[in-house]
Amino acid sequence: MTAGDPIRPPLADRDVTPAFGVYIHWPFCLSKCPYCDFNSHVRREAIDEPRFVRAFTAEIAATAGRAPGRTVSSIFFGGGTPSLMQPATVAALIDAVAAAWRIAPDAEITLEANPTSVEANRFRGYRAAGINRVSLGVQALDDRALAELGRMHSAREALNALSVARAVFGRYSFDLIYARPNQSPGEWVRELRNGLAETGEHISLYQLTIEADTPFAALHAAGKLRQPNEDTARALYDVTQDICAAHGLPAYEISNHARPGGQCRHNLIYWRANEYAGIGPGAHGRLDIAGERHATETEKRPETWLARVETLGHGLIADEVLTRTEKADEFLLMGLRLAEGIDLSRYERIAGRLLDPDRIATLRRHGLVETSHSGRLRVTLPGFPLLDAVVADLAA
Ligand SMILES: C[S@@+](CC[C@H](N)C(=O)[O-])C[C@H]1O[C@@H](n2cnc3c(N)ncnc32)[C@H](O)[C@@H]1O
Ligand code: SF4
Repeated sequence: MTAGDPIRPPLADRDVTPAFGVYIHWPFCLSKCPYCDFNSHVRREAIDEPRFVRAFTAEIAATAGRAPGRTVSSIFFGGGTPSLMQPATVAALIDAVAAAWRIAPDAEITLEANPTSVEANRFRGYRAAGINRVSLGVQALDDRALAELGRMHSAREALNALSVARAVFGRYSFDLIYARPNQSPGEWVRELRNGLAETGEHISLYQLTIEADTPFAALHAAGKLRQPNEDTARALYDVTQDICAAHGLPAYEISNHARPGGQCRHNLIYWRANEYAGIGPGAHGRLDIAGERHATETEKRPETWLARVETLGHGLIADEVLTRTEKADEFLLMGLRLAEGIDLSRYERIAGRLLDPDRIATLRRHGLVETSHSGRLRVTLPGFPLLDAVVADLAA
């Protein structure tokens, strides 16, 4: 595609607005899906939510002590399964953020939810607590595939949860996983079209990744789980782009599609290398303190994190000041995932050097990147499946 293509609007300066996000990680699930390597844990006993609220509140306050005076433009409750939290817990955590920083009146406040009927029944409570956007992990619209993915909901239940989300929240998104074992391209196209009929302003479409140390990795190693080959995966990606764009939902990021204005503002904070606080077990943050960028990371195991916060007032296990090169590499890695690409002069300010013009020229000749007159560089649609190689080449 070219810069003038209607599917991908011309390059413009879009990543200049300062934004500050708060990510809050709820680390529990009812069961562990066999493909998932997120920091999620299954517990037999009930979770002591008030105790977690106290610990989250302490960590939020400690983070605000280090990074005071910010205006929060987004809060994201991710997991794990945040839709297992009681609405009162969510309300208390939003209050804790409001006590620590100013929350912008138009802040986006998202909660990730699993689409079971039990969880959909809590949606009105979340709305009352201040949530204004949900992201539902639908994963598939086919019952057999859902069972193979180890999901605890049916396609019908997911569709019901989507209609509750539509009625309750102004904004909603959902995730589908494709390139699944035994999924033919024709089946995916039908499923995607069904999914798009349910889509509001945003949808996330992920190719199945076999993550190390998961049950799917073991099945894969034993030859019991066949993934599409590179050509089929590529064809699946291409057809996904075409169908979504024709539906008015072009990719604004490698796996995320939105109508104009419907992008997930929270995730844009990560991809545009803005600032965010990471709260809760295993959360990552990036804080700009006294002119330096701190990469923070908290203890992953929920009970250990809790004990740490209760003794130290925070769960941090890492707090590193990034070097110029690390900041520049991260800026490339995250920014080139976006269809809008990166501002080359911002790269120069961060890195203290230009990106190698010869390397850009070579990648451009191969049709993998394109540049605008105003100095933005972006990966082309044919380049997206090769993103890792493009970034590695530019960062070298
Ligand atoms: C934090 S996770 C899950 C949120 C929620 N607990 C759920 O399962 O619906 C966010 C999304 O990552 C995607 N995901 C997780 N593991 C994946 C994998 N191995 N391959 C592709 N997508 C994956 C799923 O679409 C999932 O909805
Ligand atoms: S995919 Fe979602 S529900 Fe399944 S284990 Fe991972 S975080 Fe939990």
